[in-house]
Amino acid sequence: MTHPTPAQTGITPGETAEQHAHFEARIARGEKIEAGDWMPAEYRRQLIRMISQHAHSEVVGMLPEGEWITRAPSLKRKTILMAKVQDEAGHGQYLYHAAETLGATREDMLQALLSGKAKYSSIFNYPTHTWADVGMIGWLVDGAAIKNQTMLAGCSYGPYSRAMVRICSEETFHHKQGKEMIVAYAQGTPEQRAMAQDALNRWWWPAMMMLGPHDADSPNSGVLSKWGIKLKSNDEVRQEFINEHVPELLEAGLTIPDPDLHQDAQGNWRHGPIHWDEFWAVIRGEQGLNKERLGARQAAHDDGAWVRDALQAYADRQRAVAAD
Ligand code: ACO
Repeated sequence: MTHPTPAQTGITPGETAEQHAHFEARIARGEKIEAGDWMPAEYRRQLIRMISQHAHSEVVGMLPEGEWITRAPSLKRKTILMAKVQDEAGHGQYLYHAAETLGATREDMLQALLSGKAKYSSIFNYPTHTWADVGMIGWLVDGAAIKNQTMLAGCSYGPYSRAMVRICSEETFHHKQGKEMIVAYAQGTPEQRAMAQDALNRWWWPAMMMLGPHDADSPNSGVLSKWGIKLKSNDEVRQEFINEHVPELLEAGLTIPDPDLHQDAQGNWRHGPIHWDEFWAVIRGEQGLNKERLGARQAAHDDGAWVRDALQAYADRQRAVAAD
């Protein structure tokens, strides 16, 4: 007979039913769980997994857009893009700090990313072929991320929830600049319109997938929902994303690359089948730019070794001075 795992039950050997009941009552009352509070080991493990993957996504997410800083078509677009890429680095920092409050170390998290053990969002393994991809990432990818992260801003873990509030306000600016850019190109010259449509053709399905597998195929959702980390399911968030973005993309004069897309009697936009084989192949690194992304992160990590050494030497000296 196989016994259910902590990931399925949420209860780790050594924890009591009373501890769990007290913890779940706090969540039911809408209290935030803070770093020093008692929490189930599985709650801690799930949060470290999710928050560190989220941090990695922000940092790896700088790469596809960063490639375009030198090629932005005007000074205005360049300064906007530089600010956006800088914001993503800041989001990574807030999130690594939030994971550190749970006992994870920066070194272990970075090692997990660089060794390929930790995941980061599938979306950042797709290439940016044209300048319109930068706008489409802002409109669709940040649009999808905001739907997911507005939900996470209400999550039960205080440090993650507060980081999300701050991140969402910046992501809203990213979303607006992407939409403004694509709407302008969709109403521009024939070449600009074609470039915007081509970007939509390539980013629509990856953006749909980035919100995670269908609920029936989402093994983590059970405990995440039970403990108030996920307040909406993957499919619910995806539905919110489609309902907001489909009318706006159509209004911009673009064609959504889904022949089965239609509105149901309740007004919800219904999508056609998602190619999950592609999603899993991208996550496993068999398709897309996983090797290039991790190679770029490894190079940045190696190039930054002297900065870390200098900071450590400075901190050691400050401590020695204070001890004197
Ligand atoms: N890319 C890579 N892996 C994914 C993705 C994705 N888009 N979606 C799901 N997965 C992975 C999960 O991490 C999980 O693997 P693991 O157990 O080895 O960690 C597996 O697929 C099964 O998925 P779920 O059980 O549905 O996973 P979960 O309940 O954690 O839901 C989700 C996935 C929605 C991404 C959740 O982790 C989340 O909300 N994370 C925080 C937000 C985030 O990381 N956003 C990334 C984009 S940030 C940006 O765009 C700047």
